[in-house]
Amino acid sequence: MGFPTQRLRRLRRNQTLRSMVRECDVNRDDLIYPMFVVHGRGIKREIKGLPGNYHHSVDQLVEEAKQVRDLGILAVLLFGIPEKKDANASEAYAENGIVQQAVRALKREVEGLTVITDVCLCEYTEHGHCGIIENGYLVNDRSLELLAKVTVSHAKAGADIVAPAAMLDGQIRTMRSALDQDGLIDTAIMGYSAKFASKLYDPFFKQCTHSAVAFGDKRTHQMDFSNSDEAMREIALDVEEGADIIMVKPALFYLDIVARAKAEFKMPLAVYNVSGEYVMLKAAAEAGRLDEASVRMEMLTAFKRAGADLIITYFAKEAARELH
Ligand code: PBG
Ligand code: ZN
Repeated sequence: MGFPTQRLRRLRRNQTLRSMVRECDVNRDDLIYPMFVVHGRGIKREIKGLPGNYHHSVDQLVEEAKQVRDLGILAVLLFGIPEKKDANASEAYAENGIVQQAVRALKREVEGLTVITDVCLCEYTEHGHCGIIENGYLVNDRSLELLAKVTVSHAKAGADIVAPAAMLDGQIRTMRSALDQDGLIDTAIMGYSAKFASKLYDPFFKQCTHSAVAFGDKRTHQMDFSNSDEAMREIALDVEEGADIIMVKPALFYLDIVARAKAEFKMPLAVYNVSGEYVMLKAAAEAGRLDEASVRMEMLTAFKRAGADLIITYFAKEAARELH
């Protein structure tokens, strides 16, 4: 066969035909919106460098979350900015910590919204590392004990899903058993399973959480961006340890990992379209070099086509409005 019998352009002739044979779509219920909560009242401050994203105090967070829900977005991913940071990240697991307060308010006041919490210590430690540091090195197992405390405190506040972000060995097993011991059997875990050491996180910790590391870097725990087989080993361990949803992060440069992960694990799979990816497109659009809406949808669709079920993105509100 082949040409002239086969003419692939036949089904591209108009929008109707193209829609009929489209293989994948982005839907509003694929989107997860990251939100940043700060202490105080009446605060809604746009995050410099991430236009359209804000630092909210709990009261304002609730208002914004209602709008997010009304756009058809089903879930938010919460990050907290504590009042004070210390060596043991104590506000991360404080009963009245900023995230715990926010979760309680969202679950009480925003019906139908799924609340996911980022479980890590780097926003809460004075040095910006994801756990306890000894001789300049992030110690694994003692940090896990703290992560277990954070996990249980988020779940008790009402988090539907907890998302361990530290890339420590054994974090999922530790969290699952801590939750189960407390009877929190229905709290799900979304692992940041294959999280690469990426400079694309810079806007996040510089502008969003003010948690840049005071020394060193995160390459002793986050993955080397050269590795794909290792990413599959990381994901396999998360699955074995009890992850309900797996994740690849960042998204844009890692779609080979996404495609492999979907094929090999057949698990609910999320991608994190990180701050640096947001900034790249925003900056190009602001400079008049790219058409933001078109490139945004092309990008989000690429995540779905590669195999992602869920997309964590700072573009969630704009995309949802467009998909409405
Ligand atoms: C860790 C965390 C980070 C991001 C999400 N969770 C920063 C890091 O690991 O260094 C980055 C997200 C982004 O860049 O959008 N709590
Ligand atoms: Zn961290």
